[in-house]
Order: sequence, then C-alpha cells, then structure tokens
Amino acid sequence: MADPVIYLDHQATTPCEPAVVEAMAPWWSAQFANPASRSHRPGLLAAAAVEQARAQIATALRVESTAVVFTSGATEANNLALKGLAEAELHAGGRRRHLLCLSTEHRAVLDPLRYLSRHGFELTELAVPASGLVDLEQLRQALRPSTLLVSVMAANNEIGVLQPIAAIAELCRSRGIRLHCDGAQAVGHIPLLPAALGIDLLSLSGHKLYGPKGIGALVVAPGVTLAPQLHGGSQEQGLRAGSLPVPLIVGLATALELALADQAARAVRLKALRDQLWQQLQELGGVHRNGAPAPRLAHNLNVWIEGVEGSALQRRLRPHLAISSGSACSSGEPSHVLQALGLSRQQAAAALRFGLGRHTSAADINSAASLVRAAVTELRQG
Ligand SMILES: Cc1ncc(COP(=O)(O)O)c(C=O)c1O
Repeated sequence: MADPVIYLDHQATTPCEPAVVEAMAPWWSAQFANPASRSHRPGLLAAAAVEQARAQIATALRVESTAVVFTSGATEANNLALKGLAEAELHAGGRRRHLLCLSTEHRAVLDPLRYLSRHGFELTELAVPASGLVDLEQLRQALRPSTLLVSVMAANNEIGVLQPIAAIAELCRSRGIRLHCDGAQAVGHIPLLPAALGIDLLSLSGHKLYGPKGIGALVVAPGVTLAPQLHGGSQEQGLRAGSLPVPLIVGLATALELALADQAARAVRLKALRDQLWQQLQELGGVHRNGAPAPRLAHNLNVWIEGVEGSALQRRLRPHLAISSGSACSSGEPSHVLQALGLSRQQAAAALRFGLGRHTSAADINSAASLVRAAVTELRQG
C-alpha cells in the first residue's frame, strides 16, 4: 500500500468533521422538504432547521439573525457584498464611485472589483510592504470623498497575515465608507466579531472551518443596502434567490460552533507545531519566511527556498505531502500575493505554503520537515 499523504493544505480546504456530517445526515433524505414550502409540516420543519442554524451563527458572531444571508460560499458572499453594494449605490443615485482593496486580496475579491472597474467604478489596489501588512497611513491617504467601499481580508489565504481590521474600520467609519472583510480564512480560526470590529459586510465559508463545501454566508450590518446578484425568488430577504440547501446550512452552523469551541486551544497547539516546522526547515539554510511572522494565523507558514526550482520541488514532494505553492484557486501561475510582497516570479514559484489543521500531529510535522529537507538537499546537489 502507498504511504499515506500528509495533508498540510488546510487553507485550501479542511476535512468536514464527522460530528458535522452526523448533524447534516437527517436533512438529506429523511427530512428533505423545501424550507420555502410553508403549506405543510415537513416544509415548516425544514424552515425551522434553517432558522435555528441562522440563529446559532448569529449568536456565535454576536449579530442579529436577520444579518446572516446564506450563500454558496465566500466567493458568492464576496460577489454579493461588492457588486451588491456598488449596484445599490447606483440605484440610490449616490455619487461614490471609488473602491479600494489590497493588492494581496483573494481573486474572489479582486475579480468582482475589477469587474466593477470596467463598469463605471474606479479601483485602487493598494500595494503592501514585504510584511504583507497594510500601511494604515498609505490607506488613509488613498481614501477619497468618493470612496464607497474598502475591502480588506482579515487573514491572508497564502501568507496568513492578519490585517488591522479595527483600525481600518475606524478610518472608514468617520468618512461614511463601507468596510467589507473577506473572513474566509479567519472565521473559526481567530476571534472575529463583525459588529464589535466595525465591519459592515463579512464573508465566510463552511469548508474553511471544518464544515461542508458549497455553503457560506454574508453577514450584513444593519442599515447596509445591497442589490441582489441572484434573481429568481424571494429567499434570504430577497437578497439571494434559490432553494436553501438545508443540510449544508445545518452543517455550517454546527461546524462554526465546533470551531469556536476549540479555536483558542487549537491555535496554541498549531502555533507550537508551526514554529517547530519553521525551525526544522531553517536548518537547510536559504529558507525565507514570506510575510510578517506576526500577527499571523497560528496554522500558516509560507516560505521560499533558495537554490531549487519550484516545479521540481513540488514534483518531489507530491507523492508524500499535500501542500501548495500558493492559493488553490489560481494554481499554475506564480502567486500574485508573493509577487506583491516583492518576490520575483521564480522565487514565488519556489514557495511552499504549509497549512496545519485540527488533526495535524507532531509526527506529521517531523515527517514533513524531513521530506522537504531531503527533497531540497537532493535538488541543490543537482
Ligand atoms: C480568502 C478567501 N476568500 C474566498 C475564498 C473562496 O471561498 P469559497 O471556496 O467558499 O467560495 C477562499 C478560498 O480559497 C479564500 O481563501
């Protein structure tokens, strides 16, 4: 039998917890009714399950239930937030046309914003220093009277750095600018309460927090008006048409509760393992950490390694180790995030992203470090 592959790609996706699968189970076949069918009991039961899940999520994030809009994931939540806000501004006859994000945002933010920039809006993609952390003074200077929206991710999906969301919210609030935060990599991993931080729109995703794929949510602050981006029904307060996936919604709520229950302890454990991995990799020499060491997700390490060619390194590691050289969503191209930090295409191609997870053990980390050391040593010897 082939050796098991060590999975260290938890920023691409996480395994769905067995307890989450169990919570979802009754809602596939035994109780399959459409929650929009209010004329019969099975439909009402499904609707009650959806509303209970919504309340669980709202309680966990300390917002009102009405703030939670279910989507198919963070990509859709980002699209609804960004395009929905821009379109609502147009409908209301508002004059704000300027949008701002960081150049290191995920494609699920960059692409909708670039789309808007081709349709009458102006976009600033703010550069970041090598730390990957926004320079607040530069951000302040880039804001204009016409700025409608700032979009900054809470935790970066490649280098794990945590942006100063509360300080950014402060800059936005006093200028009447809406703040969107892509929380796909942060919710369930670090404390992130949107109302307390001043976030107007927060995107999250089930499969990044040990829940199912195909479900996420947009958390909308009171008073924020969005234009729907999916038309075809009045579900989700008219903001997102389509029959609700009851099992996935139940799964998302369960996964979030479980993630918050072990969030602090998990972070402490994974930080120790991550730091151990960093120590062991440094023995090679010529290993550079991408992005600021802190503040950073406890389970992320991203390095580039001198003297090896990226694709050759990936090929050597692939049979034994599941890691990534960048974001799972833009595979093939050297990472735009790493290039934004100042790495060349070649350096970015020789980067490795390690994403540790709930079930990662010390033995996994020791094996991963040995595998990388062996592969790099062999490649350097040519
Ligand atoms: C920061 C960030 N935003 C958005 C997404 C997309 O999330 P989803 O797969 O739920 O659409 C990801 C997933 O890679 C991500 O890391």
